[in-house]
Amino acid sequence: MARRRRKRLPEGDFDASIESLSAEGRGVAHVDGKTLFLHGGLPGEQVRFRYTRRQKRHDEGIVTEVIEASPDRVEPKCGHFGVCGGCGLQHMASTAQLMAKQQALLDTLMHIGKVEPERVLAPLSNATTWGYRTKARLGAKYVAKKGRVLVGFRERGGSFVADLRRCEVLDERIGGLIEPLAELIGGLSIRDRVAQIEVAAGDADSVLIFRVLDEPSEADLARLRAFAAASGQHIYLQPGGPDSIVPLDEAARLYYDLPAWDLRLDFLPTDFTQVNIAMNRRMIALALDLLALQPDDRVLDLFCGLGNFTLPLARQAREVVGVEGDAGLVQRARDNASRNDIDNARFHVANLYEPLQAEPWLNESFDKVLLDPPRSGAREILAWLGRLAPRHILYVSCYPGTLARDAGELVAKHGYRLAAAGVMDMFPHTGHVESIALFERKEH
Ligand SMILES: C[S@@+](CC[C@H](N)C(=O)[O-])C[C@H]1O[C@@H](n2cnc3c(N)ncnc32)[C@H](O)[C@@H]1O
Repeated sequence: MARRRRKRLPEGDFDASIESLSAEGRGVAHVDGKTLFLHGGLPGEQVRFRYTRRQKRHDEGIVTEVIEASPDRVEPKCGHFGVCGGCGLQHMASTAQLMAKQQALLDTLMHIGKVEPERVLAPLSNATTWGYRTKARLGAKYVAKKGRVLVGFRERGGSFVADLRRCEVLDERIGGLIEPLAELIGGLSIRDRVAQIEVAAGDADSVLIFRVLDEPSEADLARLRAFAAASGQHIYLQPGGPDSIVPLDEAARLYYDLPAWDLRLDFLPTDFTQVNIAMNRRMIALALDLLALQPDDRVLDLFCGLGNFTLPLARQAREVVGVEGDAGLVQRARDNASRNDIDNARFHVANLYEPLQAEPWLNESFDKVLLDPPRSGAREILAWLGRLAPRHILYVSCYPGTLARDAGELVAKHGYRLAAAGVMDMFPHTGHVESIALFERKEH
Protein backbone atom coordinates (compact mmCIF):
# COMPACT_ATOMS: atom_id res chain seq x y z
CA MET A 1 0.00 0.00 0.00
CA ALA A 2 1.35 3.43 -0.94
CA ARG A 3 2.20 5.48 2.15
CA ARG A 4 0.97 9.05 2.24
CA ARG A 5 4.05 11.24 2.36
CA ARG A 6 4.10 13.84 5.11
CA LYS A 7 5.02 17.34 4.04
CA ARG A 8 8.55 18.28 5.08
CA LEU A 9 8.55 20.68 7.97
CA PRO A 10 10.46 23.96 7.67
CA GLU A 11 13.35 23.84 10.12
CA GLY A 12 14.00 26.39 12.85
CA ASP A 13 11.81 28.90 14.65
CA PHE A 14 9.51 31.48 13.05
CA ASP A 15 7.54 34.52 14.23
CA ALA A 16 3.77 34.91 14.38
CA SER A 17 1.12 37.19 15.85
CA ILE A 18 -1.78 35.33 17.34
CA GLU A 19 -5.14 36.72 16.34
CA SER A 20 -7.71 34.53 18.06
CA LEU A 21 -8.34 31.22 19.82
CA SER A 22 -9.60 28.18 17.90
CA ALA A 23 -12.62 26.23 19.08
CA GLU A 24 -10.38 23.69 20.83
CA GLY A 25 -8.09 26.28 22.43
CA ARG A 26 -5.14 26.75 20.08
CA GLY A 27 -3.88 30.17 19.03
CA VAL A 28 -4.79 31.08 15.45
CA ALA A 29 -2.32 33.05 13.31
CA HIS A 30 -1.73 33.59 9.61
CA VAL A 31 1.68 33.16 8.03
CA ASP A 32 2.01 34.01 4.34
CA GLY A 33 -1.79 33.98 4.13
CA LYS A 34 -2.08 30.42 5.44
CA THR A 35 -3.90 29.62 8.68
CA LEU A 36 -1.67 28.33 11.45
CA PHE A 37 -2.86 26.69 14.70
CA LEU A 38 -0.40 27.12 17.54
CA HIS A 39 -0.34 25.13 20.74
CA GLY A 40 0.41 27.31 23.73
CA GLY A 41 -0.38 30.66 22.15
CA LEU A 42 -2.95 33.23 23.25
CA PRO A 43 -4.75 35.95 21.30
CA GLY A 44 -2.77 39.19 21.08
CA GLU A 45 0.57 37.51 21.66
CA GLN A 46 3.73 37.85 19.62
CA VAL A 47 5.47 34.46 19.63
CA ARG A 48 8.20 32.34 18.12
CA PHE A 49 7.08 28.88 17.02
CA ARG A 50 8.17 25.63 15.45
CA TYR A 51 6.12 23.81 12.80
CA THR A 52 4.78 20.41 13.86
CA ARG A 53 2.56 19.62 10.87
CA ARG A 54 1.82 21.05 7.43
CA GLN A 55 -1.41 20.38 5.63
CA LYS A 56 -3.02 21.65 2.47
CA ARG A 57 -5.40 24.08 4.13
CA HIS A 58 -3.61 24.88 7.37
CA ASP A 59 -0.43 24.32 9.33
CA GLU A 60 0.16 23.45 12.96
CA GLY A 61 2.91 24.42 15.34
CA ILE A 62 4.00 24.86 18.91
CA VAL A 63 5.04 28.06 20.64
CA THR A 64 8.74 27.97 21.59
CA GLU A 65 9.02 31.49 23.01
CA VAL A 66 6.56 34.17 23.99
CA ILE A 67 7.95 37.53 22.90
CA GLU A 68 5.00 39.68 23.96
CA ALA A 69 2.69 37.96 26.45
CA SER A 70 -1.05 38.40 26.74
CA PRO A 71 -2.27 39.87 30.07
CA ASP A 72 -4.38 36.68 30.29
CA ARG A 73 -1.32 34.43 30.39
CA VAL A 74 -0.78 32.55 33.69
CA GLU A 75 1.66 29.91 34.84
CA PRO A 76 0.14 26.46 34.19
CA LYS A 77 -0.51 24.63 37.46
CA CYS A 78 0.32 21.21 36.08
CA GLY A 79 3.91 20.10 35.51
CA HIS A 80 2.79 18.05 32.51
CA PHE A 81 1.26 20.99 30.63
CA GLY A 82 2.32 20.91 26.98
CA VAL A 83 2.93 17.14 27.01
CA CYS A 84 -0.37 15.74 28.26
CA GLY A 85 -3.36 16.17 25.96
CA GLY A 86 -5.76 16.32 28.91
CA CYS A 87 -6.12 20.11 29.25
CA GLY A 88 -4.61 22.60 26.85
CA LEU A 89 -5.82 25.94 28.27
CA GLN A 90 -4.00 26.05 31.60
CA HIS A 91 -1.80 28.91 30.40
CA MET A 92 -4.88 31.16 30.25
CA ALA A 93 -6.56 32.77 33.27
CA SER A 94 -9.85 31.06 34.14
CA THR A 95 -12.00 34.12 33.47
CA ALA A 96 -10.31 34.62 30.09
CA GLN A 97 -10.92 30.95 29.24
CA LEU A 98 -14.61 31.47 29.87
CA MET A 99 -14.76 34.68 27.87
CA ALA A 100 -13.01 32.91 24.97
CA LYS A 101 -15.53 30.07 25.18
CA GLN A 102 -18.39 32.55 25.25
CA GLN A 103 -17.01 34.25 22.15
CA ALA A 104 -16.59 30.87 20.45
CA LEU A 105 -20.23 30.04 21.27
CA LEU A 106 -21.55 33.36 19.94
CA ASP A 107 -19.39 33.14 16.79
CA THR A 108 -20.55 29.59 16.12
CA LEU A 109 -24.22 30.47 16.68
CA MET A 110 -23.88 33.26 14.16
CA HIS A 111 -21.65 31.47 11.67
CA ILE A 112 -23.48 28.13 11.52
CA GLY A 113 -26.97 28.93 12.77
CA LYS A 114 -27.25 32.58 11.69
CA VAL A 115 -28.71 33.34 15.11
CA GLU A 116 -27.84 35.70 17.92
CA PRO A 117 -29.21 35.29 21.44
CA GLU A 118 -31.37 38.18 22.66
CA ARG A 119 -29.59 37.89 26.00
CA VAL A 120 -26.08 36.56 26.68
CA LEU A 121 -26.13 34.83 30.06
CA ALA A 122 -23.29 35.56 32.47
CA PRO A 123 -20.87 32.58 32.27
CA LEU A 124 -21.66 30.02 34.94
CA SER A 125 -18.58 29.09 36.94
CA ASN A 126 -17.39 27.60 40.19
CA ALA A 127 -14.86 29.03 42.66
CA THR A 128 -12.50 26.10 42.23
CA THR A 129 -11.47 24.98 38.77
CA TRP A 130 -9.17 22.11 39.85
CA GLY A 131 -9.83 18.56 41.02
CA TYR A 132 -13.26 18.55 39.41
CA ARG A 133 -13.22 15.58 37.07
CA THR A 134 -15.09 12.56 38.43
CA LYS A 135 -15.08 10.47 35.25
CA ALA A 136 -12.04 9.59 33.13
CA ARG A 137 -10.47 6.86 31.08
CA LEU A 138 -6.74 6.64 31.78
CA GLY A 139 -4.48 4.75 29.42
CA ALA A 140 -1.97 2.25 30.84
CA LYS A 141 1.11 1.07 29.00
CA TYR A 142 4.17 -0.94 30.01
CA VAL A 143 7.11 0.65 28.22
CA ALA A 144 9.98 -1.83 28.16
CA LYS A 145 12.53 0.84 27.19
CA LYS A 146 11.67 2.86 30.29
CA GLY A 147 11.32 -0.29 32.37
CA ARG A 148 8.06 0.96 33.86
CA VAL A 149 4.37 1.45 33.36
CA LEU A 150 2.84 4.77 32.28
CA VAL A 151 -0.64 5.75 33.41
CA GLY A 152 -2.36 8.84 32.11
CA PHE A 153 -4.19 10.64 29.36
CA ARG A 154 -2.90 10.54 25.78
CA GLU A 155 -0.08 12.86 24.82
CA ARG A 156 -1.14 16.10 23.20
CA GLY A 157 -1.79 15.54 19.50
CA GLY A 158 -0.66 11.89 19.73
CA SER A 159 -1.75 8.43 20.69
CA PHE A 160 0.95 7.57 23.25
CA VAL A 161 0.13 7.51 26.94
CA ALA A 162 1.64 10.62 28.54
CA ASP A 163 4.22 10.04 31.27
CA LEU A 164 2.31 11.56 34.22
CA ARG A 165 3.01 11.71 37.95
CA ARG A 166 -0.26 13.29 39.01
CA CYS A 167 -3.25 15.08 37.51
CA GLU A 168 -4.61 18.41 38.70
CA VAL A 169 -8.07 18.25 37.13
CA LEU A 170 -9.00 14.73 38.25
CA ASP A 171 -11.03 14.42 41.44
CA GLU A 172 -8.55 14.96 44.29
CA ARG A 173 -9.00 11.41 45.56
CA ILE A 174 -7.64 10.12 42.26
CA GLY A 175 -5.40 12.88 40.84
CA GLY A 176 -2.62 11.98 43.29
CA LEU A 177 -2.86 8.25 42.55
CA ILE A 178 -1.40 8.33 39.04
CA GLU A 179 2.14 7.43 40.06
CA PRO A 180 1.08 4.85 42.70
CA LEU A 181 -1.18 3.26 40.06
CA ALA A 182 1.72 3.03 37.60
CA GLU A 183 3.84 1.40 40.33
CA LEU A 184 1.01 -0.97 41.23
CA ILE A 185 0.59 -2.17 37.65
CA GLY A 186 4.39 -2.34 37.21
CA GLY A 187 4.49 -4.89 40.05
CA LEU A 188 1.81 -7.17 38.55
CA SER A 189 2.60 -10.33 36.58
CA ILE A 190 0.28 -8.92 33.88
CA ARG A 191 1.92 -5.46 33.83
CA ASP A 192 1.87 -5.41 30.01
CA ARG A 193 -1.71 -6.70 29.87
CA VAL A 194 -3.50 -3.88 31.65
CA ALA A 195 -4.83 -1.59 28.93
CA GLN A 196 -6.67 1.15 30.79
CA ILE A 197 -8.17 2.26 34.08
CA GLU A 198 -11.59 3.81 34.08
CA VAL A 199 -12.37 6.19 36.92
CA ALA A 200 -15.80 6.94 38.36
CA ALA A 201 -16.15 8.96 41.55
CA GLY A 202 -19.30 9.70 43.49
CA ASP A 203 -19.80 11.89 46.56
CA ALA A 204 -18.64 9.06 48.84
CA ASP A 205 -17.20 6.00 47.07
CA SER A 206 -14.98 6.03 44.02
CA VAL A 207 -14.13 3.22 41.63
CA LEU A 208 -11.16 2.21 39.50
CA ILE A 209 -11.93 -0.32 36.75
CA PHE A 210 -8.86 -2.16 35.47
CA ARG A 211 -9.23 -3.43 31.92
CA VAL A 212 -7.24 -6.68 32.14
CA LEU A 213 -6.36 -8.56 28.95
CA ASP A 214 -5.08 -11.60 30.93
CA GLU A 215 -6.23 -13.07 34.20
CA PRO A 216 -4.44 -11.63 37.23
CA SER A 217 -2.53 -14.16 39.37
CA GLU A 218 -3.29 -14.72 43.07
CA ALA A 219 -0.31 -12.51 43.93
CA ASP A 220 -1.68 -9.80 41.60
CA LEU A 221 -5.06 -9.96 43.33
CA ALA A 222 -3.37 -9.60 46.70
CA ARG A 223 -1.50 -6.48 45.45
CA LEU A 224 -4.70 -4.99 44.05
CA ARG A 225 -6.48 -5.60 47.37
CA ALA A 226 -3.66 -3.99 49.32
CA PHE A 227 -3.84 -0.95 47.01
CA ALA A 228 -7.62 -0.72 47.43
CA ALA A 229 -7.27 -0.84 51.22
CA ALA A 230 -4.48 1.78 51.32
CA SER A 231 -6.06 4.20 48.83
CA GLY A 232 -9.72 3.83 49.83
CA GLN A 233 -10.65 3.01 46.23
CA HIS A 234 -13.01 0.27 45.11
CA ILE A 235 -11.29 -1.82 42.47
CA TYR A 236 -13.23 -3.51 39.68
CA LEU A 237 -11.88 -5.80 36.96
CA GLN A 238 -12.97 -5.84 33.34
CA PRO A 239 -11.71 -8.95 31.53
CA GLY A 240 -13.89 -8.44 28.39
CA GLY A 241 -16.62 -6.12 27.15
CA PRO A 242 -18.52 -3.66 29.41
CA ASP A 243 -20.79 -6.47 30.67
CA SER A 244 -17.80 -8.30 32.15
CA ILE A 245 -17.07 -5.62 34.80
CA VAL A 246 -17.06 -7.09 38.33
CA PRO A 247 -15.96 -5.70 41.69
CA LEU A 248 -12.81 -7.30 43.01
CA ASP A 249 -14.46 -7.53 46.42
CA GLU A 250 -17.30 -5.41 47.76
CA ALA A 251 -19.25 -3.33 45.24
CA ALA A 252 -19.14 0.44 45.68
CA ARG A 253 -22.22 2.55 46.19
CA LEU A 254 -21.80 5.40 43.72
CA TYR A 255 -24.10 8.37 44.12
CA TYR A 256 -24.18 12.13 44.01
CA ASP A 257 -26.45 14.42 45.99
CA LEU A 258 -28.44 17.36 44.70
CA PRO A 259 -29.16 19.02 48.06
CA ALA A 260 -31.20 21.91 46.63
CA TRP A 261 -33.85 19.36 45.57
CA ASP A 262 -33.27 16.90 48.42
CA LEU A 263 -32.17 14.20 45.96
CA ARG A 264 -29.61 11.40 45.96
CA LEU A 265 -28.90 9.86 42.54
CA ASP A 266 -27.28 6.42 42.38
CA PHE A 267 -25.29 5.34 39.36
CA LEU A 268 -23.13 2.48 38.10
CA PRO A 269 -19.44 3.01 37.30
CA THR A 270 -19.87 3.09 33.51
CA ASP A 271 -23.13 5.09 33.45
CA PHE A 272 -23.15 8.52 31.86
CA THR A 273 -22.92 11.18 34.55
CA GLN A 274 -21.89 14.82 34.28
CA VAL A 275 -18.14 14.87 35.02
CA ASN A 276 -18.11 17.99 37.18
CA ILE A 277 -20.49 17.44 40.08
CA ALA A 278 -20.27 20.97 41.55
CA MET A 279 -20.93 22.59 38.18
CA ASN A 280 -23.69 20.08 37.49
CA ARG A 281 -25.57 21.35 40.56
CA ARG A 282 -25.27 24.92 39.32
CA MET A 283 -26.25 23.94 35.80
CA ILE A 284 -29.45 22.26 36.99
CA ALA A 285 -30.37 25.33 39.06
CA LEU A 286 -29.80 27.59 36.04
CA ALA A 287 -31.80 25.33 33.72
CA LEU A 288 -34.77 25.20 36.08
CA ASP A 289 -34.59 28.94 36.61
CA LEU A 290 -34.56 29.65 32.86
CA LEU A 291 -37.53 27.33 32.34
CA ALA A 292 -39.48 29.48 34.85
CA LEU A 293 -41.31 26.38 36.08
CA GLN A 294 -44.89 26.70 37.30
CA PRO A 295 -46.47 24.13 39.65
CA ASP A 296 -48.89 23.21 36.86
CA ASP A 297 -46.29 22.58 34.15
CA ARG A 298 -45.89 19.28 32.32
CA VAL A 299 -42.26 18.95 31.24
CA LEU A 300 -40.50 16.62 28.81
CA ASP A 301 -36.81 15.81 29.45
CA LEU A 302 -35.14 14.33 26.35
CA PHE A 303 -31.80 12.44 26.56
CA CYS A 304 -32.54 12.27 30.28
CA GLY A 305 -29.87 9.75 31.34
CA LEU A 306 -30.39 8.61 34.92
CA GLY A 307 -32.73 11.50 35.73
CA ASN A 308 -30.19 14.24 36.43
CA PHE A 309 -32.59 16.98 35.30
CA THR A 310 -35.82 14.96 35.40
CA LEU A 311 -35.91 14.46 39.14
CA PRO A 312 -35.17 18.09 40.09
CA LEU A 313 -37.83 19.06 37.51
CA ALA A 314 -40.26 16.68 39.17
CA ARG A 315 -39.80 18.51 42.47
CA GLN A 316 -41.07 21.74 40.90
CA ALA A 317 -43.47 20.76 38.11
CA ARG A 318 -46.77 18.89 38.01
CA GLU A 319 -45.44 16.03 35.91
CA VAL A 320 -42.26 15.12 34.05
CA VAL A 321 -41.56 12.57 31.34
CA GLY A 322 -37.95 11.51 30.72
CA VAL A 323 -36.84 9.83 27.49
CA GLU A 324 -33.48 8.15 27.02
CA GLY A 325 -31.90 5.66 24.59
CA ASP A 326 -30.00 3.54 27.12
CA ALA A 327 -32.32 1.06 28.84
CA GLY A 328 -29.93 0.67 31.79
CA LEU A 329 -29.99 4.42 32.46
CA VAL A 330 -33.78 4.44 32.25
CA GLN A 331 -33.86 1.70 34.88
CA ARG A 332 -31.54 3.77 37.07
CA ALA A 333 -33.78 6.82 36.54
CA ARG A 334 -36.87 4.85 37.65
CA ASP A 335 -35.02 3.46 40.67
CA ASN A 336 -33.75 6.93 41.55
CA ALA A 337 -37.29 8.30 41.33
CA SER A 338 -38.71 5.70 43.67
CA ARG A 339 -35.78 5.89 46.10
CA ASN A 340 -36.43 9.64 46.35
CA ASP A 341 -40.23 9.18 46.74
CA ILE A 342 -40.98 10.86 43.42
CA ASP A 343 -44.22 9.70 41.83
CA ASN A 344 -44.75 12.38 39.18
CA ALA A 345 -41.91 11.31 36.85
CA ARG A 346 -42.27 8.65 34.15
CA PHE A 347 -39.47 7.31 31.96
CA HIS A 348 -39.35 5.74 28.51
CA VAL A 349 -36.65 4.11 26.42
CA ALA A 350 -36.47 5.48 22.86
CA ASN A 351 -33.86 6.04 20.20
CA LEU A 352 -34.27 9.74 19.54
CA TYR A 353 -32.19 9.56 16.37
CA GLU A 354 -34.66 7.27 14.62
CA PRO A 355 -38.13 8.10 13.33
CA LEU A 356 -40.53 8.13 16.30
CA GLN A 357 -43.84 6.39 15.81
CA ALA A 358 -45.70 4.50 18.48
CA GLU A 359 -44.09 6.16 21.50
CA PRO A 360 -46.67 6.59 24.27
CA TRP A 361 -45.46 10.13 25.08
CA LEU A 362 -45.55 11.36 21.49
CA ASN A 363 -49.16 12.46 21.53
CA GLU A 364 -49.09 14.05 24.96
CA SER A 365 -48.81 17.79 25.38
CA PHE A 366 -45.96 19.50 27.26
CA ASP A 367 -45.57 23.09 28.39
CA LYS A 368 -41.79 22.93 28.43
CA VAL A 369 -39.04 20.73 27.04
CA LEU A 370 -35.47 20.29 28.26
CA LEU A 371 -32.98 18.47 26.03
CA ASP A 372 -29.38 17.51 26.69
CA PRO A 373 -28.19 15.52 23.67
CA PRO A 374 -24.72 14.07 22.98
CA ARG A 375 -22.24 15.94 20.73
CA SER A 376 -24.16 15.01 17.60
CA GLY A 377 -27.09 17.21 18.67
CA ALA A 378 -30.80 16.70 18.18
CA ARG A 379 -31.57 17.43 14.53
CA GLU A 380 -33.79 14.35 14.14
CA ILE A 381 -36.40 15.56 16.64
CA LEU A 382 -36.57 19.26 15.76
CA ALA A 383 -39.50 19.04 13.34
CA TRP A 384 -41.47 17.02 15.89
CA LEU A 385 -40.57 19.55 18.61
CA GLY A 386 -41.86 22.31 16.32
CA ARG A 387 -45.23 20.53 16.06
CA LEU A 388 -45.35 19.83 19.79
CA ALA A 389 -44.85 23.60 20.22
CA PRO A 390 -43.90 23.86 23.92
CA ARG A 391 -43.64 27.44 25.25
CA HIS A 392 -39.97 27.00 26.22
CA ILE A 393 -37.22 24.71 24.97
CA LEU A 394 -34.11 24.59 27.12
CA TYR A 395 -31.17 23.10 25.23
CA VAL A 396 -28.03 21.97 27.13
CA SER A 397 -25.15 21.30 24.78
CA CYS A 398 -21.60 19.95 24.95
CA TYR A 399 -20.79 21.01 21.38
CA PRO A 400 -21.51 24.49 20.01
CA GLY A 401 -21.42 23.33 16.38
CA THR A 402 -24.52 21.15 16.68
CA LEU A 403 -26.27 23.54 19.07
CA ALA A 404 -25.80 26.30 16.46
CA ARG A 405 -27.11 24.08 13.67
CA ASP A 406 -30.19 23.08 15.70
CA ALA A 407 -30.73 26.66 16.94
CA GLY A 408 -30.74 27.92 13.36
CA GLU A 409 -33.42 25.39 12.48
CA LEU A 410 -35.59 26.04 15.55
CA VAL A 411 -35.55 29.76 14.76
CA ALA A 412 -35.83 29.68 10.97
CA LYS A 413 -38.29 26.78 10.58
CA HIS A 414 -40.05 25.96 13.81
CA GLY A 415 -41.28 29.24 15.25
CA TYR A 416 -38.83 29.91 18.12
CA ARG A 417 -36.75 32.89 19.29
CA LEU A 418 -33.34 32.35 20.82
CA ALA A 419 -34.11 34.22 24.03
CA ALA A 420 -30.84 33.53 25.87
CA ALA A 421 -27.59 31.58 25.63
CA GLY A 422 -24.41 31.28 27.66
CA VAL A 423 -21.45 29.08 28.56
CA MET A 424 -20.83 27.00 31.67
CA ASP A 425 -17.42 26.10 33.09
CA MET A 426 -18.03 22.36 33.09
CA PHE A 427 -14.53 21.47 31.79
CA PRO A 428 -12.09 24.15 33.08
CA HIS A 429 -8.65 24.28 31.42
CA THR A 430 -9.80 22.21 28.44
CA GLY A 431 -11.12 23.42 25.11
CA HIS A 432 -14.54 21.80 25.69
CA VAL A 433 -17.43 24.24 25.62
CA GLU A 434 -20.59 23.41 27.58
CA SER A 435 -23.46 25.76 26.91
CA ILE A 436 -27.12 26.37 27.56
CA ALA A 437 -29.72 28.02 25.35
CA LEU A 438 -33.31 29.03 25.97
CA PHE A 439 -35.78 29.10 23.07
CA GLU A 440 -39.18 30.74 23.45
CA ARG A 441 -42.12 30.16 21.17
CA LYS A 442 -42.84 33.21 19.01
CA GLU A 443 -46.23 34.81 19.60
CA HIS A 444 -48.38 34.74 16.47
C1 LIG B 1 -25.10 14.54 27.48
S1 LIG B 1 -25.85 13.07 28.09
C2 LIG B 1 -27.09 13.77 29.15
C3 LIG B 1 -27.70 12.86 30.15
C4 LIG B 1 -28.51 13.54 31.26
N1 LIG B 1 -29.35 14.59 30.77
C5 LIG B 1 -27.59 14.05 32.36
O1 LIG B 1 -27.57 15.27 32.61
O2 LIG B 1 -26.93 13.23 33.03
C6 LIG B 1 -26.69 12.51 26.69
C7 LIG B 1 -27.59 11.32 26.89
O3 LIG B 1 -28.15 10.97 25.61
C8 LIG B 1 -28.29 9.57 25.56
N2 LIG B 1 -28.37 9.19 24.14
C9 LIG B 1 -27.36 9.04 23.26
N3 LIG B 1 -27.84 8.69 22.05
C10 LIG B 1 -29.19 8.61 22.17
C11 LIG B 1 -30.24 8.29 21.27
N4 LIG B 1 -29.98 7.97 20.01
N5 LIG B 1 -31.51 8.31 21.72
C12 LIG B 1 -31.77 8.63 23.02
N6 LIG B 1 -30.81 8.93 23.92
C13 LIG B 1 -29.53 8.93 23.52
C14 LIG B 1 -27.05 9.06 26.28
O4 LIG B 1 -27.25 7.72 26.73
C15 LIG B 1 -26.91 10.06 27.41
O5 LIG B 1 -27.60 9.63 28.55
